[in-house]
Amino acid sequence: MKRIVVLISGQGSNLKALIEACHQKKLSAEISAVVSNNTSAYGLKYAINMNINIHTINKTQFTGSEEFDRALIAVIDYYKPDVVVLAGYMLILSNEFVTHYFGRLLNIHPSLLPLYPGLHTHRNALQNGDLIHGTSVHFVTDQLDSGPLILQAKVPIFSNDNEITLAHRVKNKEHIIYPIVIGWVLSGRVILSDNAVWLDGIKLPPEGYCIDI
Ligand code: GAR
Repeated sequence: MKRIVVLISGQGSNLKALIEACHQKKLSAEISAVVSNNTSAYGLKYAINMNINIHTINKTQFTGSEEFDRALIAVIDYYKPDVVVLAGYMLILSNEFVTHYFGRLLNIHPSLLPLYPGLHTHRNALQNGDLIHGTSVHFVTDQLDSGPLILQAKVPIFSNDNEITLAHRVKNKEHIIYPIVIGWVLSGRVILSDNAVWLDGIKLPPEGYCIDI
């Protein structure tokens, strides 16, 4: 059985979707552990309810990011994961961490990258009058919310949307696409090679595979 370690910082709705996908055998893998930098992350409850191992690591107990990330690596590597999945993990990772998991470290970000890295993506899309928004799954590199894109899913923006309605629409898509992409990576259908993403032996365009509205 392939092993996944999931990193979260907060609500954990993507974690919940991954747990359900594994449970329903839509994703042929087990979540070996959930790790959080935030002891009160709501998402930890989903893991506890399903008897999944949880670990919390408080960054303030370390002298710097690199020491913290080394401790994180030690926790994660205990489980020998095939992929490490960032699911709303909101700390910037050190180069050492990213290099250690290169090619098996995935992130989901609520925008059509390279648009709107960082925070407040829904607010930015609304303020710019965008008509289309979405979410991206990508391999992680040492740049924030950057790295070769695997899949993007688009959603419409309606004239009466606000940040909450838009975030809700985007998250619904995230819950569908993240288990699919993780399955692709675990089965070897998707690989990172020559700084490009390959799906079933075909090199994907820079925006990755796209699912329309
Ligand atoms: C998700 O929308 C995810 O795309 C985003 O955090 C949210 C976590 O929600 N990630 C980032 O912004 C990464 N830069 P969740 O805790 O309910 O899964």
